Amino acid sequence: MTDNCRVVVLLSGSGTTLQAILDQQNQYCYQVVGVLSNRPDAYGLERARSAGIDTRSLDHKHFPSRESFDLELMERIDKFKPDLVVLAGYMRILSHAFVKHYQGKLINIHPSLLPKHKGLHTYQSALDAGDKEHGTSVHYVTEELDSGSVVMQGTLNITPADTAKTLEQRVKVMEHYLYPRAIDWIASGRITVEDDVISLDKKPLGPQGYRISEKSIASTE
Ligand code: GAR
Repeated sequence: MTDNCRVVVLLSGSGTTLQAILDQQNQYCYQVVGVLSNRPDAYGLERARSAGIDTRSLDHKHFPSRESFDLELMERIDKFKPDLVVLAGYMRILSHAFVKHYQGKLINIHPSLLPKHKGLHTYQSALDAGDKEHGTSVHYVTEELDSGSVVMQGTLNITPADTAKTLEQRVKVMEHYLYPRAIDWIASGRITVEDDVISLDKKPLGPQGYRISEKSIASTE
């Protein structure tokens, strides 16, 4: 990608992930040039404005179909001329046209160790399944929900004291560390994709991408 990779962020909610991306952009080679939301009241838009970033909101409820909404959204995104489109808590299923249009430059972060626990309520699902570990995945977006090649995963050990709430808190700390790094690795060209295989510095990664544990994140901070 480019030395100063133009990033557009899409979000639907409070935007703590966006905040981490913004807070760390000075140390990395990406630049957030626009933030868009399908929810006009998303607090993430407020965070972007406070950081002096251009925002757009487009209420999906005003569109007759997913396809018509996504077409308008694509037009608005493209005005920012992005090199990378970053989903950060963007809680809408994407249309075929949208995914195709941004193929190879559209990434997402999902709070589970994909392919486990796609969709919503991943923390409770992991507890209900009796999983020993949980975490988060940064992945390229394909048409299938929460699928696509995994770039990076953050892992943690579930303890008997954990609840959905504590898992969410622990996962979010990892996400705020991982996502800006993953964006930087893609922006700088360290991450490449060929035939759905992700490589870091030309070395192919496994299907779970680059893995880092909560413990080692804590020791670097
Ligand atoms: C993040 O934890 C992210 O992993 C999740 O939404 C949260 C957004 O938090 N994304 C998904 O569940 C996508 N399937 P935020 O609004 O505080 O940034």
